[in-house]
Amino acid sequence: MTRPVRAHIDLSALTFNLSQACRAAPDSRVMAVIKADGYGHGMLSVAGALEAADGFAVASLEEGVSLREAGVEKPVLLLEGVFSRDELETAVHHNFELVVHQAAQLGWLQALDRSLAAGTPGQPGLSVWLKVNTGMNRLGFPLDEALAAWDRLAAISQVSARRWMSHFACADEPQHLANAEQERLFRELCAQREAPCSLANSAALLSRPSSHFDWVRPGIMLYGASPMAAGQAAPVELHPAMTLRSELIAVRQCRQGDAVGYGQTWVCPEDMPVGVVAAGYGDGYPRHAPSGTPVRVNGEPAPLIGRVSMDTLCVDLRKQPRASVGDPVVLWGQGLPVETVAEAAGTISYALLCGVTSRVPRVNSI
Ligand SMILES: Cc1ncc(COP(=O)(O)O)c(C=O)c1O
Repeated sequence: MTRPVRAHIDLSALTFNLSQACRAAPDSRVMAVIKADGYGHGMLSVAGALEAADGFAVASLEEGVSLREAGVEKPVLLLEGVFSRDELETAVHHNFELVVHQAAQLGWLQALDRSLAAGTPGQPGLSVWLKVNTGMNRLGFPLDEALAAWDRLAAISQVSARRWMSHFACADEPQHLANAEQERLFRELCAQREAPCSLANSAALLSRPSSHFDWVRPGIMLYGASPMAAGQAAPVELHPAMTLRSELIAVRQCRQGDAVGYGQTWVCPEDMPVGVVAAGYGDGYPRHAPSGTPVRVNGEPAPLIGRVSMDTLCVDLRKQPRASVGDPVVLWGQGLPVETVAEAAGTISYALLCGVTSRVPRVNSI
């Protein structure tokens, strides 16, 4: 018997959620975002479950290489491009598509161009996504430099395909005025050099059809979490792909006034059973989750009490006086949306999913 905490990954949920994305954006191709180890779900099995996607977006060369080594032949997009000139050859070798978001990356491409014979036979050429800043102010060329960057790209013979791309800052709040403005700026820019365009993440995919363009880039919705701002359900049905499960490993009868856990921050208001769950911040459960954060034991609510420890957390079993060691616990997933737990803990579903640590076995089911 090993420690009972497990991340159960429902691969059919991923496939279902992708079909929902395709239904919501029927005229666009889908670049499934599977960076950060498939948002913590296990990138390779996620890629398998999402085989109907038109391409995969990752954050690093290493992630892309492991997809290729696993036999993935679809387009693979490096969302931040390469981080140095040295990475370019590997990227070309694996036929990765590259985001170019700043001038140094253009310079590296020009240098590559000089060092390689243009149009080498069998060399498909690079697809480059020029990323522009329409209001996120994170990555991307300023709008007034975008056309010059585009024209520099067009002069690089190794680059055989060019696309426009930008990213929303507030898509999870559909009424936010920034969305319309970003889309307007992007549309105006793209009209000046015709090419495939991509703007929408999950939230925009589900709430802003005018932003779909040629490629949508869903991430979080594929994993079954609502992409909308805290407290807002997704406008379509999504199935949670990860259920973080564990078990009760102890049940103790505490007395009124007994304090539970580090810092003695939670004091029993009455005599009561307290359950100890094998899950803690060493597994990626948020340490800052306050008492009252929802947890389910035997499918029923049993809220968190006291501070989360590295390997354990405690739950209030007053509503389940018969609960005993070995009883199943759900920390999030089926029956307990990860976004509900995230909201209680003052964080976002993305951080919880990506934060499940490597010591937690991922158990795939179809
Ligand atoms: C550039 C880019 N596109 C798309 C996505 C997917 O976003 P979401 O998970 O909100 O759908 C991300 C995620 O961080 C991103 O960085």
